[in-house]
Amino acid sequence: MTAFTQKLNPQEALSPRHPNSRLQADWLFLYDKLPPAQWFSAEYVYKTSGWLNIHADIRKRQHILTQISDAYHSGSIEWSEYRVQLLPRINQYIMKLHHHHNIEDQAYFPSFIRMYPQLKSGFEILDRDHIHLDAILNELQVLNGKLAISEAEDKALGEQLHKTLIDVSNLLSQHLTDEEDLVIPILGLN
Ligand SMILES: [Fe+2]
Ligand SMILES: [Fe+2]
Repeated sequence: MTAFTQKLNPQEALSPRHPNSRLQADWLFLYDKLPPAQWFSAEYVYKTSGWLNIHADIRKRQHILTQISDAYHSGSIEWSEYRVQLLPRINQYIMKLHHHHNIEDQAYFPSFIRMYPQLKSGFEILDRDHIHLDAILNELQVLNGKLAISEAEDKALGEQLHKTLIDVSNLLSQHLTDEEDLVIPILGLN
């Protein structure tokens, strides 16, 4: 259906932004009306910026965690500095994400589905992402707990943390972008 619809309306078809987006063409009727280029325009910004700023904050935190991990693995910082930098930031990051997902799952997504029942399958994808993300964040929490008690350098632990941070980053990048493409037009147009 996706490819078929796009073939019928090639000049109107606007693709979701993530290269591996899971959004189907028939869920993009609002995205077509309010494309990303207009999200920060004066007419919409007061309705869209709250959500986008929270996501920008999540992306920034994720980026800093990856930078710290990279710095340790490239030898720019020692284990002790790596621990001091990473430990509190991972804790805050996990807390922020859980809090954000809870609000979406309990309040926003159900209300968006009531407004647009035809988008239910799209929100189910985002719900499943949250479950998947929760599982990876739990792993990250366990590893961070080990980091808290590992005063002596533990290269295997540093490696596991690095891999887990990359897993979170990849899933989150796809999740946040698909979520914005689905949600921001709803916020802007209502
Ligand atoms: Fe989400
Ligand atoms: Fe979100």
